[in-house]
Amino acid sequence: MHPDDIATLTARIGRTHLRQRLGLETDHEVFVLNRPGAHFFYPENWYSVHGFIRHALRLSGLLARAQHNATLLQVRHNRVALPGLPAAFEGFRILHLSDLHLDMEPRNVAALCARLPALDYDLCVFTGDYRAKTFGPYDRVLNAMSKVRQSLKAPALAVLGNHDTLAFVPAFESMGIRCLLNESESIERQGERIYLAGVDDAHYYQVHNLDKAAAEIPEAAVAILLSHTPEIYRHAAHCGFDLMLCGHTHGGQICLPGGFPLTWDAHCPRRLAAGAWRHGAMLGYTSVGAGTSVVNARLNCPPEITVHTLTAG
Ligand SMILES: [Fe+2]
Repeated sequence: MHPDDIATLTARIGRTHLRQRLGLETDHEVFVLNRPGAHFFYPENWYSVHGFIRHALRLSGLLARAQHNATLLQVRHNRVALPGLPAAFEGFRILHLSDLHLDMEPRNVAALCARLPALDYDLCVFTGDYRAKTFGPYDRVLNAMSKVRQSLKAPALAVLGNHDTLAFVPAFESMGIRCLLNESESIERQGERIYLAGVDDAHYYQVHNLDKAAAEIPEAAVAILLSHTPEIYRHAAHCGFDLMLCGHTHGGQICLPGGFPLTWDAHCPRRLAAGAWRHGAMLGYTSVGAGTSVVNARLNCPPEITVHTLTAG
């Protein structure tokens, strides 16, 4: 990252957060590269698994269909009843995009950019995982993200996922995508406000800080949390958030008939792996994501664009 960007981010998020995020990114790269094959569960060490899954899909005649499925984006509508929602926000629509993994397959990006212009919404939120790899060059990601941004027609907020680097932040913000790094923003309509907070990745990097993210939010305000992973749902619910939007799980990506996931790579119950859920007083929604990871294939789990419509209920 450019030294000026580091200085700006240090002043904004604090020295500890910045050093932890960048330090852990470097540790991760060294960890994966220096011990090839030793860390089975990192995508970069999954070449044999990639091959196995692709071969298994090809043998079963499913590969072409599974790759085509990855371009067949479903637009899902989720109604969110929030008692106390200010009247000015009745019907407010949030476009939710997650797990784009933009360097995975250009056809998936093209399919996404083709679907976005026809959608109506008031705000766009991204819940992380813009990259397929977890380190290394990211020019393809930024080029594709620029195309996605040009396909949007509302303000955009974003959080980082476990595949992302802090270096995305200056680039995204120069595109007009405000990143929330344990920070919050308010949206004002006719003198009334709702608040959106966003935490840095809580899955791998664990540099989320709900306390900092919620610090500027008034006690009685309607507050929405953006998090890459649903895994912090219990802590978020006790922070007073009314709604938590997240992704990360891909809904399993390759599922059994009926959409039953074989794995969702998150320490949370299966009910939080896809779609709408509730924990205590907090509502939640886990997007199955618009992209693919590890292998460009989807079975019984189509990629998703979500439109959440807020209502006082
Ligand atoms: Fe992802």
